Amino acid sequence: MNQQELEAVLSSLNLSAIHYFDSVGSTNDEALAMARKGAKDLTLVVADEQTMGRGRLDRPWFTPPQTALAFSLILRPTYAEKALLSRTVGLAALALSDVLQTLNLSSQIKWPNDILLNGRKLAGILIEAVWFEDEVISLVIGMGVNVSKGSVPATDILGFPAISLEGLLGYLPDRMIILNAILANIIALRPQMGTDAFLSSWEKKLAYYGRQVRVEMGGEKSVSGKVVGLESDGSLKLLGDDGKSISVRFGDVRLRLFA
Ligand code: BTN
Repeated sequence: MNQQELEAVLSSLNLSAIHYFDSVGSTNDEALAMARKGAKDLTLVVADEQTMGRGRLDRPWFTPPQTALAFSLILRPTYAEKALLSRTVGLAALALSDVLQTLNLSSQIKWPNDILLNGRKLAGILIEAVWFEDEVISLVIGMGVNVSKGSVPATDILGFPAISLEGLLGYLPDRMIILNAILANIIALRPQMGTDAFLSSWEKKLAYYGRQVRVEMGGEKSVSGKVVGLESDGSLKLLGDDGKSISVRFGDVRLRLFA
């Protein structure tokens, strides 16, 4: 993978710019800096290696050289899209899930931002925003996909079992072809983000649907209930033990295992 090859493979997408790095701290950090300087909608940052890759809640994200897909896409939301910002993580998750489906891999979305295959983490999404006064002017969709077996971190580092595309498929797929397909899906799905059909496709992919979970919100704070779907803004909808509906805006979902 290099700048020239990326430009050739992604040529039909009409991206505004492609910035390739052999090695970078974090593609999200680069993209955020570019967005702050006014980078256009559909500016893409891709790295072969990340030395300071970040996940949600500032967790480290490992991207060893030549093993993974790590990219960040800058969106400049339109007026209409600004009402739908919280659905952007669903946009990225569905775009990847649809690519996986074409490879006969049926993925699930562990709310809010993990893509699971057979209960193991294959990819993570990190959405970040650039604000001007009280308005979001740019969004960065960061995505990391474990492509070769060498990209899979040890379970004890991640706190959750992980898997790679190579491990699932039995061969090593081309990272740039996968990237092209994900980006094409993001671009195609974007105009549908506000529809009920979009929300219901997202809900259908939810991991642990109908199961009892605990959502940890940091410190001692947590809520428990059965996963029953998503709110219109992408919050997780739970049915509490007392029969009351609970909406969760952020947190880490864990299955509740009963003896
Ligand atoms: C998570 O699982 O918490 C999200 C992981 C997101 C990782 C991607 S890799 C490309 C982009 N750059 C980063 O530093 N993070 C995201």
